[in-house]
Amino acid sequence: MITVRVPAKVNVQLGVGGLRADGFHDLANVFFAVALGDQVTATAAEPGTGVTLSCAGPDADQVPLDGTNLAARAARLLAAHHGVPADVHLHIDKSIPVAGGMAGGSADGAAALVACDALWALATPQPVLLELAAELGSDVPFALLGGVALGRGRGELLEALPVSGTFHWVFAVAEGGLSTPAVFRECDRLREQAGTGSGIDQVPTPDPSAALLTALAEGDPVALAAALGNDLQAAALSLRPALTGCLEAGLTAGALAALVSGSGPTCAFLAKDAAGAEAVAAALAASGTCRAAHATHGPVAGAQVIDGG
Ligand code: C5P
Repeated sequence: MITVRVPAKVNVQLGVGGLRADGFHDLANVFFAVALGDQVTATAAEPGTGVTLSCAGPDADQVPLDGTNLAARAARLLAAHHGVPADVHLHIDKSIPVAGGMAGGSADGAAALVACDALWALATPQPVLLELAAELGSDVPFALLGGVALGRGRGELLEALPVSGTFHWVFAVAEGGLSTPAVFRECDRLREQAGTGSGIDQVPTPDPSAALLTALAEGDPVALAAALGNDLQAAALSLRPALTGCLEAGLTAGALAALVSGSGPTCAFLAKDAAGAEAVAAALAASGTCRAAHATHGPVAGAQVIDGG
């Protein structure tokens, strides 16, 4: 039995370029791994059983337990790559909001790769794991890497970024999720409506913000707060206008900055320190603008074995 812990992510910058011919958008995506995370446990199963899944946690009823689950797909992909049978039970201990813009499904996929690799004693080299992860989804490679990284392409071409110290965050979980493809489509629609166009030849290729990279390298939360940016935020707010109230409640409670996490609807708040994050989380939980609020910190490591390795 192998248990892997894997982080959720927040995008401290999500620069969205034009829509490509393959249906993805070119990104300048600065991923930041936070301690709020899931655990995936892989247990050996009888030959011929295939991949079975179970899930526990407050949102467990929203997690698909069929072959579409990214953890199941990861186990099958790894087994096929090595030509070994994909017989395993995967249990997901879920804390990351489902369809929340924090890459929870991608995190479980990354965790399943690492857990099955250890359970089946495959010793897959990290570059190969990263390639398999990119086949599973744009955000899966980062969940393997953790820390802070710039993702180019559709987000899968990663470069680790220098970062100092610890940053303190609060995540406000909304009622219900948002579909990532739907939020990207809404971003394109808003661009068309504004007359700028949404195609790869019309939208300039996004670049990482120099001020943001300096703030991360220097461990400066006030400077990071001023440099945060998410090009999907307008689209997420257009689909879910009530999120504005949540962002405002966090700012009123003293957060340095508020933004939608990835494609939303989870809202992320940067705090000055750990005590500040606790205060913002308490105020948000009492505000009636979200379902729950969690104080956490980062950056933290990517998917790693914590038990049984
Ligand atoms: O790669 P992943 O399966 O996580 O992407 C889910 C969906 O999000 C894609 O099918 C696409 O609609 C959208 N997406 C995008 N551009 C990206 C990443 C994701 O349009 N760079």
